[in-house]
Amino acid sequence: LIRVWSIPAFLAVLLTGCAGNKSILDPAGRAAADVALVWWGMAGFFSLVLIMVVALGLYSFRRRSRPKLSALEEKRLARRFILGGGVLLPVATIGVLLIFGVPAGQRMLPVPLGTPPDVIQVTGHQWWWEVRYPGAEGGEVVTANQLVMPAGEPVDFHVTGADVIHSFWIPRLGGKIDMIPGHINRIRLEADSPGVFGAQCAEFCGTQHAHMQLYVEAMERSDYEAWLAERQAAKLETLAVQSDAHAPAREVFVEYCARCHRVAGLTVPDSQWELAPIQGPDLSDIGARPTLGAGVLAMEEGAIGYWLEHHQQLKPGNRMPAHLALEPPALQAIGDWLETLSP
Ligand code: CUA
Repeated sequence: LIRVWSIPAFLAVLLTGCAGNKSILDPAGRAAADVALVWWGMAGFFSLVLIMVVALGLYSFRRRSRPKLSALEEKRLARRFILGGGVLLPVATIGVLLIFGVPAGQRMLPVPLGTPPDVIQVTGHQWWWEVRYPGAEGGEVVTANQLVMPAGEPVDFHVTGADVIHSFWIPRLGGKIDMIPGHINRIRLEADSPGVFGAQCAEFCGTQHAHMQLYVEAMERSDYEAWLAERQAAKLETLAVQSDAHAPAREVFVEYCARCHRVAGLTVPDSQWELAPIQGPDLSDIGARPTLGAGVLAMEEGAIGYWLEHHQQLKPGNRMPAHLALEPPALQAIGDWLETLSP
C-alpha cells in the first residue's frame, strides 16, 4: 500500500514546485503566459514522445518472436523509421514550437509603441541589483535589490552587468535576459495587476549567485508615481541628516562605509572616493527595503546592525569586507541610523 501511495505523493511534492512567487507556471503577465503555454506544450508533446519510445521498445521485444523479414522488407521498414522519426517528427516538432515561440519572444521585444513605456535600468553586480529610474519626475531615483514598477502597462528594462555576466529574470512576468558588462540588453515586461514577484539572477556569477534575489513589486500607476516622488533626492537628503542622535554613527559611516556606499544628503570628502575599491548599493532608502543582502535577511528591527556584524557568515565571500576595526556597538549604531532612512 505504501508503494502505491508513494507515487502520487512524489508527484504532489514535484507539483508544489509549480506554484509560488518564482514559478513560470504561475504567470502574472502576457509574456509569462506565453512562456507558460510553450512550457505546457513542450511538456505535453514530449510526454507523448516518451510514451511512443517506451511503446516502440516493448514492440521490439515482441517482434523478435516473429518470422524474419526479407532483406528488402527490412530496408523499407528502416527507411520508414528514419524518414518518420528522424525527419518528419523533428520538423513538425520544431515547426510547432516556432509557431508558439517566435510570437512569444517578439512580444518581449521593446518595439516602438504609441506611448513610450517607462524605462527602468537594472545593473547586476556581484551579488546585488542596482535599479535606476531615469525618467522619474524631479530627477533620477536609485535603489538596490528592490524593483517597483507600474502594473497594467508595459515597462522596458535596460539591463547590463557591472563586473561579470548576470541574468535578469522575473519568472512570473517573462523570460530572462543576460546582463552583459559594456552592453545594454532590453526586454519589455508587463504585470497584469499589482502584486509582489520574486526575481533571481539566472546566470551563474560566482559563489553568492543564489543569494542574488530581487524583490519586485507592481503597483497602480498613481502608487508608483508616489513611490518615486518619495525617493526624490531632496527628500532623502533631509532624511539622512535630520537627527542629531545619529550624528556619531553618521561620522563613522562617512569614514568607513562611504567609500563604497552612497547616502543622499551625506557629504563625503573627495579623498574618500579616491579610495573607493568597489561600488556598493545606494543606501538612501535602505530602511524601506524588504530584505538585506539581496534576499538574505528580512528587514526588521536591529537587522542592519546584525547584518553588519555577521554578513560574512550570512553571505560568505560577499564584496563587503568584514568590519574588524569596528566594535559591535558601533556597527549597531550605524544600523540603527540606517534603519531610519525610510521615506
Ligand atoms: Cu548574478 Cu548569478
